[in-house]
Amino acid sequence: MSMDRNLALELARVTEAAALDAGRWVGKGDKIAADAAATEAMRRTLDAMDICGTVVIGEGEMDEAPMLYIGEQLGRGVDGECAVDIAVDPLEGTNICSKGTNGAIATIALAPRGGFLHAPDMYMDKIVTGSAGVGVVDIQKSAGENVEALAKAKGCNPQDLTVALLDRPRHDKAVAEIRNAGARCQLFGDGDVAAAIASAIDDSGIDMMIGIGGAPEGVLTAAAIKCLNGFMQGRLVFMTEEERVRSRSMGIDDFDKIYSAKEMAKGDVFFAATGVTNGDLVRGVRYFPGGAKTHTVVMRSQSRTIRFLETLHYFDHKPGFNS
Ligand code: FBP
Repeated sequence: MSMDRNLALELARVTEAAALDAGRWVGKGDKIAADAAATEAMRRTLDAMDICGTVVIGEGEMDEAPMLYIGEQLGRGVDGECAVDIAVDPLEGTNICSKGTNGAIATIALAPRGGFLHAPDMYMDKIVTGSAGVGVVDIQKSAGENVEALAKAKGCNPQDLTVALLDRPRHDKAVAEIRNAGARCQLFGDGDVAAAIASAIDDSGIDMMIGIGGAPEGVLTAAAIKCLNGFMQGRLVFMTEEERVRSRSMGIDDFDKIYSAKEMAKGDVFFAATGVTNGDLVRGVRYFPGGAKTHTVVMRSQSRTIRFLETLHYFDHKPGFNS
């Protein structure tokens, strides 16, 4: 099945809508309301697309999430026409948004049916770089070894590299190793999708992202990294027996498997992200009288076209928007 190239721009509309509605909640101290606003906008716009979509990475199980739950069917497509799987994180970085700090995005990815790893809501160990890391860095090596290997591959010194990590005690050892190897750490509070994608884009200021974050976020990241021809490995981190049971029921048998981006996001995949707050990847929603400007990145793996879109939205022409 060939996917329609127009899907890329359609997806930009979806993440723009989510960012515009979540944007009103930036800095308001209410991450639940911000997430709900993004989720509603995303569901509304996705459901208007000419797809037969199934949510495989979403807001949770049917009994815990009112919309964009795993298994939800969306779109106006008829009889399996353009059958796609949908991975969403309507507001990636809910705390960032509620605090008004840097790095919150609205994000989505599409794959042909069966294309995404069905990752449960658990942790995943990740390593992401640009194409320079292919055959060079490895999740099985220490953080220090990976810094040295990447510096060598890039023809620079370790002190020229910046490695992004979620600011969590579980990463203390890796942080110490990275510093010992001579590189710089960028410790961020939340939002490892945007940080990972930035590490695969030249001149973003981030060369590598490593560490443990959400597994669903890992699948969204994989879709983008595949489009960017970057490098990624992910390995699920099992904390409880329940997670093993849940993973098995979602078709995962090999608990030690190291997944590449292409294994987590198969086929012709699309990815879009719009900034809610400012970040290394995209800028946040900026309001002006009667409207707002959004900044979006949208990509497709088949054509490897990476578009950065600045969009002006005039609310008097957009009924339904939370203006
Ligand atoms: P939310 O948007 O759901 O708040 O997640 C933010 C996030 O920082 C992700 O980017 C990351 O993958 C995960 O949470 C890390 O989890 P934890 O906060 O448990 O370390």
